[in-house]
Amino acid sequence: MSFRISSMEEYREVYRKSVEQPEAFWAEIAGSFLWKKKWDRVLDWNFKEPDIRWFSGGTLNITENCLDRHLETRADQPAIIWEPNDPEEHHRVLTYRQLHQKVCLFANVLKNNGAKKGDRICIYMPMVPELAIAVLACARIGAVHSVVFGGFSAQSIADRIQDAQCELVITADGGFRGNKEVPLKNVIDDALVQCPSVRRVIVLTRNRTPVSMIKGRDVWWEDEIKKAETLGMLDCPAEEMDAEDMLFILYTSGSTGKPKGVVHTCGGYMVYTGYTFKTVFQYEPGDVHFCTADIGWITGHSYIVYGPLSQGATTLIFEGVPTWPDAGRFWDVVDKFKVNVLYTAPTAIRSLMQSGLEYVEGHDLSSLKVLGSVGEPINQEAWHWYHEHIGKKRCPVVDTWWQTETGGILISPIAGVTPAKPSYATLPLPGVQPVLVDEKGEEIEGNGVSGNLCIRFPWPGMLRTTYGDHERCRTNYFAAYDNLYFTGDGCLRDEDGYYRITGRVDDVINVSGHRIGTAEVENAINMHSDVIESAVVGFPHDIKGQGIYAFVISEQHLNDSDLTAKDIAMTVSRIIGPIARPDKIQFVPGLPKTRSGKIMRRILRKIAEGDLVNLGDTSTLLDPSVVDEIRNGRIA
Ligand code: WT7
Repeated sequence: MSFRISSMEEYREVYRKSVEQPEAFWAEIAGSFLWKKKWDRVLDWNFKEPDIRWFSGGTLNITENCLDRHLETRADQPAIIWEPNDPEEHHRVLTYRQLHQKVCLFANVLKNNGAKKGDRICIYMPMVPELAIAVLACARIGAVHSVVFGGFSAQSIADRIQDAQCELVITADGGFRGNKEVPLKNVIDDALVQCPSVRRVIVLTRNRTPVSMIKGRDVWWEDEIKKAETLGMLDCPAEEMDAEDMLFILYTSGSTGKPKGVVHTCGGYMVYTGYTFKTVFQYEPGDVHFCTADIGWITGHSYIVYGPLSQGATTLIFEGVPTWPDAGRFWDVVDKFKVNVLYTAPTAIRSLMQSGLEYVEGHDLSSLKVLGSVGEPINQEAWHWYHEHIGKKRCPVVDTWWQTETGGILISPIAGVTPAKPSYATLPLPGVQPVLVDEKGEEIEGNGVSGNLCIRFPWPGMLRTTYGDHERCRTNYFAAYDNLYFTGDGCLRDEDGYYRITGRVDDVINVSGHRIGTAEVENAINMHSDVIESAVVGFPHDIKGQGIYAFVISEQHLNDSDLTAKDIAMTVSRIIGPIARPDKIQFVPGLPKTRSGKIMRRILRKIAEGDLVNLGDTSTLLDPSVVDEIRNGRIA
């Protein structure tokens, strides 16, 4: 099959086939990729254990699909366009030939530093082309990358490095973000105090801030590249990987305190990201694709690096932030590089919307063909602003629903084909079977219903396990409902069969499109020496989608509550990272608990939302009077 779908009739037809004969459907798609050895079996699976295997017996290397196979047809086409943080600095372009060379060379650097197939490598880097090169070089030699977003703290990095037992770290001296500099290597140094498994750190030069380089452990990226060049190690054969060999680990938050390492494997992930990239955006050769996410999140893995490159696309990497030097930066970039596809998050749209139209005016956005949204529900207002003022009502908006665990997009319009409905992710892609279930696990059929969103049948991009703890993967995603993958999202299916994601039904909150576990934030708050207990919930936030509201029991605040709140916020920054800092901290005399000691978060959520009247039944509380005190002290 081709990835091109040109009408709703065709979509319905392809969808029907994909459900009736899923194996034939996926085999045809997989056939458009480059395999070293063809698979014996398309799919083996059960959701009980779970045990999911796609393309068994097949071998491949994803970088041959992203690089080598394009050399004959598009060696001189830009693979990566890089726009730096500072608009005064020169942008860079890497053609497929150049990217191939750089990946091979750095893959040899990794080998020279002792890395081999199966080793875990932590990557903590700014958004520079070398980040994509590092990721691809790991894949080239069969090492497993674990990219950690540059906004995470030393403690968070240490937890992730220890969990995966990484032997190598790739980082940079520092990075630029807007008018700030981030001291990446310093943060890594703090993390490594707790990480005996790491024996080598490769450090890229970016802002040349002073860093400590430890003899025998730390080496400079540039020196290692020179060494490899001098030795003539320019080529690097791609390691032959089994389809189900691990490609990468990416940590994400869940309902418990400890982030889990979501594992994706080579064959299925490659097929799924390539397929969804081409299908959803209806990418055409030569188009410039600009996904504004950070490569540290799944969106960047799938739709900056692997999806676009496997399809021979030109992918734009932007180092900066949407609001610096001013709120017109995205539109500058779109204009400068004649971007055709823009894929961004509702939080960015809302923040730019608030800055005013004067930042949009004066930029030529006529190159845009498709607009994408990802990471959280997009509200009607933001959808219309995006459609009208950025897309000038000419560009379809694709609201793409998916998760770190799903590897790629599952529910989304197909650009130019699916009639949109603002705030709806619309319909499942061919190959994806959404199911709504009620509390009892009964499937809810028909339209005009809502329930918990599950997926019925495997798709190639789904997670295979959580690193080092398969049982956790089972209980989290496959134990709630028999034979279904549970997403953790609530969802509505309207009269037309269109899906609208209503948000998480577990204790996960979505702050600016970033997933944060309330338990994780509570653990961090509770580490502060003056805190006795805390409870964290999300509340609606105009820009971020959700903000973090913390209810804290502490005696210290009686002396200086403002300072204590700041200390607590600093503690969270230190333990998790600035992205998890609570927006509001309210000191409370107690928490609403049931007689069995369970915190009734429903009540706290209501209060945080500002709904002080409909708190529901509070009669089962151990001490109902605490609710009044919390209500009276609410931070508006
Ligand atoms: C959660 C997954 C998907 C990559 C970025 C986030 C929410 C994601 C949408 C959307 C409504 C969405 C869900 C999901 N979400 N996209 N288009 N509409 N909600 O990945 O960190 O794994 O978070 O983000 O709640 O479960 P993630």
